[in-house]
Amino acid sequence: EKGGYDYFMLKEIAEQPKAVADTLLGRIDASGLLTLDEVRIPASVLREVDKVVIVACGTAYHAGMIAKLAIEHWTRIPCETELASEFRYRDPILDQRTLVIAISQSGETMDTLMALRHAREQGARVLAICNTNGSTIPRESDAVLYTHAGPEVAVASTKAFLTQLVACYLVALYLGQVRGTKWGDEIEVVIRELSDIAAAVDRVLETMEPVRALARSLADKDTVLFLGRHVGYPVALEGALKLKELAYMHAEGFAAGELKHGPIALIEEDLPVVVVVPSPRGRSVLHDKIVSNIQEIRARGARTIVIAEEGDDAVVPYADHLIRIPATPTLLQPLVAAVPLQVFACELATARGNEVDQPRNLAKSVTVE
Ligand code: F6R
Repeated sequence: EKGGYDYFMLKEIAEQPKAVADTLLGRIDASGLLTLDEVRIPASVLREVDKVVIVACGTAYHAGMIAKLAIEHWTRIPCETELASEFRYRDPILDQRTLVIAISQSGETMDTLMALRHAREQGARVLAICNTNGSTIPRESDAVLYTHAGPEVAVASTKAFLTQLVACYLVALYLGQVRGTKWGDEIEVVIRELSDIAAAVDRVLETMEPVRALARSLADKDTVLFLGRHVGYPVALEGALKLKELAYMHAEGFAAGELKHGPIALIEEDLPVVVVVPSPRGRSVLHDKIVSNIQEIRARGARTIVIAEEGDDAVVPYADHLIRIPATPTLLQPLVAAVPLQVFACELATARGNEVDQPRNLAKSVTVE
């Protein structure tokens, strides 16, 4: 059942190219239009939506943070992403024109379920993005887009995360299509790029041996920091979450621009800091700013582990370890950038003698609030 792998997590990491392709399967018609038949919320209702609110927990929340950037960019509808466990307790502003998106692998997470029940009581429409057919969250939602990642057994989420991202991109593009904000050429281009992503993830997986060796060399460290900006910030948070749950290490993710507002005080000699570098072709200002951040932390002794696009030479002088990922459009970068962080955490857990598939104190689905 583990298909020759030592752990389910390794199997599920390896399954990601196929999982990502399966999420796209049958959802784009011959003319390049999205056909999300399961989104049974009428187009007339989607055209009236004036706010999107995403609720989720843990890894799914990180997917939601990235989805917010894609939704706002492609649809210009204001979107916020909130931890499901916090949502209903602040009396959020919701009405018939609010679209709530609940993201959950298991479909049984109580915090997320309670958030969507609250949203529906206020009259909002709820779209679930879920991996588990017939589970509670999709049953209680107005519509569901299944991620089709296949069963995820390891407690730490990997392929569910990547497919949640793909589903979020599809929803964002679909909203753009229905509302006419992004139409024609640009949707087609993004869809083509999404269709190439499975191959890009495959290429990342083929180059992971140095990442594993690096992880083993850090097995006796206490702390690892993660930095990113824009879509790279949730990726940094996800890298830190994976390391906490699997390696039981102190790991924190920061938005790189916040460094100077406090966290830079943490930097000391030989502290490993993973930096997710945005594409130099997309938002090049952000790219250049992050390169200066890498310089700053390295000057203070940090051991820099840099995740950067192939061909990005600006980072080379400041990277103690360089992890290359294929070039992708800015918004899609998390699909390739998250993969080395999964492998990194999995290998560190193994090196520290931890149970990879069943980390201590954790359960695969959290059915209590
Ligand atoms: C992290 C992880 C958890 C879940 C979270 C939400 O690797 O597995 O953080 O992502 O508990 O679970 P679902 O997606 O089932 O609602």
